[in-house]
Amino acid sequence: MARLGVNIDHVATIRQTRETTEPDPVAAAVIAELAGADSITIHLREDRRHIQDRDLTLIGGVIQSRLNLEMAATAEMIRIALKEKPDAVCLVPEKRAELTTEGGLDVVSSGPSLKDGIRKLRRKGIEVSIFVDPDPRQVIASHEIGADAVEIHTGLYANGRHKAERKRELDRINRAVDIAREINIGIHAGHGLTYQNIHPLARISAIQEFNIGHSIISRAVLVGLERAVREMKELIK
Ligand code: PXP
Repeated sequence: MARLGVNIDHVATIRQTRETTEPDPVAAAVIAELAGADSITIHLREDRRHIQDRDLTLIGGVIQSRLNLEMAATAEMIRIALKEKPDAVCLVPEKRAELTTEGGLDVVSSGPSLKDGIRKLRRKGIEVSIFVDPDPRQVIASHEIGADAVEIHTGLYANGRHKAERKRELDRINRAVDIAREINIGIHAGHGLTYQNIHPLARISAIQEFNIGHSIISRAVLVGLERAVREMKELIK
């Protein structure tokens, strides 16, 4: 069975809207882990819009499973990762204006500039994956520069409005998975995955890890709201 990495960035986003201390992503990480998450994924963005440096340190210190740090391949982030030593790093492209990571990293053109950082991370025992579009060239290029795994961007599949569009994207993902298996690079997948669209991907046995955030946190808000309101009602009473 594939591992489930739970991305808890949105918990930090809620906290940052008030610049307060709740909800604490550290608590969310522990709860996700107790519920069976195989790893906790956080994205430390350059602009610190959600996850903060202290979250990275504390989550790394308290969780028993694995910490997967998504980050841009900048000198600052490589330095932080080498100091904090998460179990894994996922290199992602990052644009300040985007709502979330929009596309995979273009390893074909930027590969040589990533090589040194990847080598340093791996020397510290940190597993490195690269977030790429489901494109065989990107998968091969990731392997060539020494990544342990690729995380295949499932956003276009997830956003496909028609069945034919989703089928086309699923075929692309399957082709990328086949290439990854052939060259023996680890295979993860993520972005836009939901309770409705996970099934066809869960059937691809070669995918070793899914990283899912938005849909799980969205569901948590709804399934937890009733209890939260009841508890406040009790206090007022
Ligand atoms: N994988 C990567 C590389 C991401 O950047 C994100 C978004 O932070 C995810 C997975 C999770 O995506 P979603 O929040 O849509 O489940």
